[in-house]
Amino acid sequence: PQTSKWKIWSEQDVKKTLHKRDAYSHKGTFGTGLLIAGTDEMPGSAVLAAKGALKMGIGKLIVGTSKFASNIIAQHVPEATFSFDALDKLAIGKIPERIHAIAIGPGLTEQVKIEQALDTIWKSEIPVILDAGALIKRNYPKRTAPIIITPHPGEFSRLTNISTYEIQQNRIEYAKQYATDHGVIVVLKGTHTVIAFPDGTGLINLTGNAGLAKGGSGDTLVGMLLAFICSEKNMKAAVANAVYLHGRCADILVKEENERSIVASQLSKVIGKVLKEIE
Ligand code: APR
Ligand code: MG
Repeated sequence: PQTSKWKIWSEQDVKKTLHKRDAYSHKGTFGTGLLIAGTDEMPGSAVLAAKGALKMGIGKLIVGTSKFASNIIAQHVPEATFSFDALDKLAIGKIPERIHAIAIGPGLTEQVKIEQALDTIWKSEIPVILDAGALIKRNYPKRTAPIIITPHPGEFSRLTNISTYEIQQNRIEYAKQYATDHGVIVVLKGTHTVIAFPDGTGLINLTGNAGLAKGGSGDTLVGMLLAFICSEKNMKAAVANAVYLHGRCADILVKEENERSIVASQLSKVIGKVLKEIE
């Protein structure tokens, strides 16, 4: 494969691109993110994503979820506010005001409503992250605001009709193909997450370990991405830095624990440590 426009995203790259928080900043500086995630049966997905977003420095977080789920989420993230009709409103064509980025999908199952909501989102200029329940085979519109998809190999197989085995043999090539064909940013997760951009370039992440191979770690990543997408102008760095830091959290955790024992909710607890090491 022609991979000359590809590079490994290193700690140096993160250090160079991670901005200090301006002393004159306020919560508006870092954006408001809308996280549409979590259902009665999967409230934890939203908890994990919300924590990821908040610990990465998002200005304000609105969680679009069910009333039942919100009762659980609020106990874990008192900083978040809620919308019980965010998905419904989007599905009938209403674009939310003063939102700087949207992440949709963790713990969601209502496929039809998600598709209707996406049709509305496409018409806006809001960057969007699609994960889990929002990852189905589809075409994407031409728009200027970025569309970021975060499939694991199984989800990518669903999007492409290519077998997971085949994808894993050629991760860079398939991610690159999809990104250029569809004009989206592909974060193909798994060992050495591959990040492919619509212009044919790409980045490879080397942080992370098998301790992440557990339900919930992907949800944390979605929140971390949302925080950076909300306020960062350089989209490539925003995505790559979130992926890098997410893996680095797992790497810090296994210094004191074990790949077996670490769980997704621990990742957000060490985001602060990781940022301290790097910034
Ligand atoms: N090495 C490094 N990173 C890894 C490894 C590994 N061996 N295994 C997993 N990861 C990372 C991935 O790169 C990704 O960032 O952990 C994260 C896992 O994300 P997902 O696969 O999306 O997992 P998650 O969503 O948290 O849980 C699984 O996804 O398929 C759906 O609904 C299904 O509940 C299930 C959920
Ligand atoms: Mg997932």
